[in-house]
Amino acid sequence: MNLVVVSNRVSRGKPNEPMTGGLAAALLPIVEKSGAIWVGSSGRVRDGNQKEPFAEIEALGAGALAMLDLPAAHYGGYYEGFANSALWPALHSRADLIRASQEDYLSYREVNAFMARALLRFRKADAAFWIQDYHFLALGAELRDLGVSEPIGFFLHTPWPARSVIGGVPHHRELIEAMLAYDLIGFQTEEDCENFLSYAQSDLGLVVHDGVIISRHGRTRAAVFPIGIDPQQFAQLATKASTHPDVSRLRRSLNGEKLAIGVDRLDYSKGLINRIKAFDQMWTLHPSLARTVSLLQIATPSRGAIEAYGNLQSEVAKLVSDVNGMHGEVDWTPIRYLNKGYGQAVLAGLYRTAQVGVVTPLQDGMNLVAKEYVAAQNPVDPGVLVLSKFAGAANELDTALLVNPHDIDGMARTIAIALSMPLTERRMRWEAMMAKLRGHTIQQWFADFAEALRECQLDRNELAPVMPEPALWPLRSATTGGARYH
Ligand code: UDP
Ligand code: G6P
Repeated sequence: MNLVVVSNRVSRGKPNEPMTGGLAAALLPIVEKSGAIWVGSSGRVRDGNQKEPFAEIEALGAGALAMLDLPAAHYGGYYEGFANSALWPALHSRADLIRASQEDYLSYREVNAFMARALLRFRKADAAFWIQDYHFLALGAELRDLGVSEPIGFFLHTPWPARSVIGGVPHHRELIEAMLAYDLIGFQTEEDCENFLSYAQSDLGLVVHDGVIISRHGRTRAAVFPIGIDPQQFAQLATKASTHPDVSRLRRSLNGEKLAIGVDRLDYSKGLINRIKAFDQMWTLHPSLARTVSLLQIATPSRGAIEAYGNLQSEVAKLVSDVNGMHGEVDWTPIRYLNKGYGQAVLAGLYRTAQVGVVTPLQDGMNLVAKEYVAAQNPVDPGVLVLSKFAGAANELDTALLVNPHDIDGMARTIAIALSMPLTERRMRWEAMMAKLRGHTIQQWFADFAEALRECQLDRNELAPVMPEPALWPLRSATTGGARYH
């Protein structure tokens, strides 16, 4: 299979540069090892006169990276507008933050159509397309309109919310209908997948059987593929990082004090406000913990041109300053707050230095930081993961200390428990989590999705001669579709 992977964000794989989000972090090793072509945005825009859509095509390990300058007239409406001010809040169940104009929606569709035209360049024998994330919900349908009949898969890195929430997105029906042009749609969790199927059945009135949706596009299989990391590689990075100057300086500065760590993009889905309030509460309720534990919070700037993100940045900075002002002393700063990104080689060492990892999003597709924190621990003296039950990772990492990120008192109590947990319990919990990480690596995730996409293709070829007229598909029962999945 000649795989073409498509996402908005790509990574050039520069070893010391921070990753911008989990999607790029996850796809980089896959492209490097599998030999796939990775197509995405260059981050620059083009004017109407530029003929060649690809700004750069370069080697990336065994694979290649092809970067496009997206159209200037539509970029803002697509990225800051519809993708990140309508879809992102809805997908994270923040319907109150949905802001979208009709122009934004049209720009989103234009960019999807532009990407589809550019992808024709990579159409060849045995090609398959694998589209990533909410930036390109309609890309499969655009490709089909251009006559592409090759297998097209889609993976959503974010949650998929309840029907009533996604119903708050303008044009939701048209968009989700377009998604059914994909042969295979992958989700992070069972709940996400069920929410999607429930929408297809109840709102679109389609036949759904055993995870297969029958629509005018044919059969679409929806299934769960929880994304993983490479735990061995992270463990190696963490061991090596102990000599990195940033890590050594951090260790020296602690003077026997314990450390909790949070690493997040500055995003309202990450629960930063409640997390900081929980630390505030912990130091208020347990004054003996002042000076004995501090929080290192790395909050990498993200989507700063969007109002909700700008507001969050100011709100978090103010809260950190208030908490430090309240609890700090002349020689002790409770929260070390860093508004910048770090390369994973350093991050691994920072994770390993911290006795507690605090990952408390209000909603998160998976949260790779949770998995990386676990993989980076010292096996003989591992730290404790405090994890939101609303992160996809909580399904696998169920021996973490699971918390409700809306319950600030509860989080404060749990962080205090984590700080005093005995070694035997820490090891038991950590070993169980490591076993899960080793059982579902990023390489396995890729292999499972590619295999499922191949199966969809075989099914389609088998069924092609007996397919009824498209208009009738929704009315037929699952006897035409889904048989394989009974
Ligand atoms: N990351 C990084 N440098 C930073 C902060 C984060 O390289 O300073 C990486 C981190 O290692 C992880 C990814 O960014 O692989 C964040 O993924 P996650 O799924 O936790 O959250 P997302 O940002 O995708 O919502
Ligand atoms: C999340 C999304 C990704 C996105 C990343 C960083 O992980 O699922 O699609 O790339 O955040 O966001 P950005 O807008 O900077 O690409």
